[in-house]
Amino acid sequence: MKINIFKTAEEIGAAVAEIFTDTVKANPSCVLGLATGATPVPTYKNIIKTFNEGGISFKDVKTYNLDEYCNLPKNDKNSYYTFMHEQLFNGLDILEENVHFLDGNAADPEAECKAYDAEINAAGGIDVQLLGIGNNAHIGFNEPADTFTEGSFKVKLTESTINANKIYFDENPMPEYALTMGIKQIVSAKKVILIATGEKKAEAVRNMIEGPVTAQVPASVLQEHDDALIFLDEAAASLLTK
Ligand code: GLP
Repeated sequence: MKINIFKTAEEIGAAVAEIFTDTVKANPSCVLGLATGATPVPTYKNIIKTFNEGGISFKDVKTYNLDEYCNLPKNDKNSYYTFMHEQLFNGLDILEENVHFLDGNAADPEAECKAYDAEINAAGGIDVQLLGIGNNAHIGFNEPADTFTEGSFKVKLTESTINANKIYFDENPMPEYALTMGIKQIVSAKKVILIATGEKKAEAVRNMIEGPVTAQVPASVLQEHDDALIFLDEAAASLLTK
């Protein structure tokens, strides 16, 4: 794990966006794993900024998002599908057929998850995976558990996650289930970048970096990854002791 501490979330956004745009410039048909939440928004803004400056195309880039809510229409304002289009895809020349999501409304979630994993493998696996972190150190929607999960699966969200995310749901109640990529699949990406900003993430960050590798702290699995870059602002890094 390589830890990078910046003063502000904006600076992290610029630094992480540069890794993504450099990846696309070096390999225009790369495969990116993307995340939702407030944390990656400055990164997405900066990717769009670089795209608008010219000299880079996302036409051959494939993306796979980490997770999606169950029982929420695809175009609902709170779906991750909508979020990604508003925050990133609509600002790029990426092709709709190249952006991929788990279908949270699939009649057979197990078959949907298997098909998603097979598609990622057929695409050659993920080159760079972006992650945020939950207050309980979840990644994607992999909640604290007894063992590290493998491929994509349907998960019942914990109270902590529902409380953290329900602020975005004003009309409909927040879904209690989601489909998410599994931990082993997430860490099979060649490079993993995790961003954590703000004081609320400080405890999860300390446990991820300084605690034991345990499925009770899902993000701690990154300690064992060969190319995991952690980007923190000073508030998120404030409980680190080393
Ligand atoms: C959700 C997402 C995660 C994200 C987390 C933190 O649970 N499934 O991928 O990392 O929220 O969100 P935020 O960045 O808004 O704090």
